[in-house]
Amino acid sequence: MNDIATYFRDHRDAHLEELVSFLRIPSISTDEQHKHDIEHAAEFVGDALRAAGLENVRRYETGGHPLVYGEWLGAKGAPTVLIYGHYDVQPPDPLELWITPPFEPTVREGRIFARGAADDKGQVFIHVKAVEAFLKTRGSLPVNVKFIIEGEEEVGSTHLADFVRKNRKLLSCDVILISDTHMMGVKTPSITYGLRGLTYLEVTVTAAKTDMHSGTFGGGVANPIQVLAEILVGCKDPKTGKVRIPGFYDDVVPLSKKERAELAKIPHNDREWAKSIGAVKPFGEKGYTTIERTGARPTFEVNGIWGGHTGPGVKTVLPAQAHAKVSMRLVANQDPSKIAKLFAQHVKKIAPDTVRTEIKLYDNNGYPALTPIDSPGMRAAADAIKMVYGKAPFFTREGGSIPVVADFQQLLKVDAVLLGFGLPDDNLHAPNEKLDLIQFEKGLETVAAFFERYAEMSR
Ligand code: BES
Ligand code: MN
Ligand code: MN
Repeated sequence: MNDIATYFRDHRDAHLEELVSFLRIPSISTDEQHKHDIEHAAEFVGDALRAAGLENVRRYETGGHPLVYGEWLGAKGAPTVLIYGHYDVQPPDPLELWITPPFEPTVREGRIFARGAADDKGQVFIHVKAVEAFLKTRGSLPVNVKFIIEGEEEVGSTHLADFVRKNRKLLSCDVILISDTHMMGVKTPSITYGLRGLTYLEVTVTAAKTDMHSGTFGGGVANPIQVLAEILVGCKDPKTGKVRIPGFYDDVVPLSKKERAELAKIPHNDREWAKSIGAVKPFGEKGYTTIERTGARPTFEVNGIWGGHTGPGVKTVLPAQAHAKVSMRLVANQDPSKIAKLFAQHVKKIAPDTVRTEIKLYDNNGYPALTPIDSPGMRAAADAIKMVYGKAPFFTREGGSIPVVADFQQLLKVDAVLLGFGLPDDNLHAPNEKLDLIQFEKGLETVAAFFERYAEMSR
């Protein structure tokens, strides 16, 4: 591996400079105004894959933002690794909280700060450069590789499942490798074996046709914000943290004793954890630990709530409407569309007859996913981590979602290895997102080691 390590060392500055150019592109998938930047980012990925020595690099139209594909299939008889990632990013607001602007990447104290640094451009870049190192130094890789880099992950990968369904042969592989998660720490490396699913809805409560004077009408008609608050309480018990939607837990695969024992081995301190996020103390579903609550149990969350007067000063108003955006994180074997239906039925049932309620379903949803820890891909990843970090990894369940993982598993019938190089304090989706450069460097080495180890194991 010496030649590969040397390549990484010799190209350290060049790699960083290229990553900066990638991070400069504000490829915000949810915002129509950034369509041009999405195009630009897709082009950047294509160029980077071509420069790395990949073949048949091309973009595929999806009906939404384009996918970028590339392959190197010169390792006869060796297994094929499908590398997935995304070049789109979340909106950067609130802008005023960024120490340096989100699309002007800046290195401070060994970290690169920019929107997309960890989620997921920086991590996509690790794979591109790991492949490049092999092709430039040896002219070959120990495995065959295919890249599929999309531009709609942050809006729920709306068109990707359809593309996978129609292109099973193009994407056929032995394992899927994804770096779009984080590990516990540089000194406590970990690999993710579970992701939660997601369903996302919006509730509108209408009490009247227009806002009203709260003196003239207050007391005579339902207040929609009050009603909405009651509906939300009706969805999650404030004392036990249990979701109150009938049927919500029906399909949940219960945590086995063995898995709970394994999860309990993960180093975690509730007080420090609460302190790290500035919380008074942890709160969640009764009977489960924080690790279980945030990774292995389903939740109901209110993402935003609005209505009435929220501007400066006072306004005595009885609002006509109230709105809330809610989402539920799901675990195996919950079905997002079934859960969305149960939620809608429940809201209709508990809403009083003094208001009208409307429910809108968003299409950024996804199925939960689990990867067996003893699968060959996981074992190769664990070996690679051990070689580079000098320690065996912990296995953790991630509370976030990557919708395509379950689609890949279902349609391609292969497991996904979630080998993430982010860290818990990367500020994903928040101001001052960053990637530690040490993790970028270790990531390159780990991915290179994974290719070799996975090839060896398949021989
Ligand atoms: N990379 C994240 C998933 C993730 C979140 C990994 C937290 C590790 C920690 C991914 O880009 C993401 O943000 N997914 C969305 C999916 C949604 C938009 C359908 C999520 O989890 O909210
Ligand atoms: Mn991501
Ligand atoms: Mn994300």
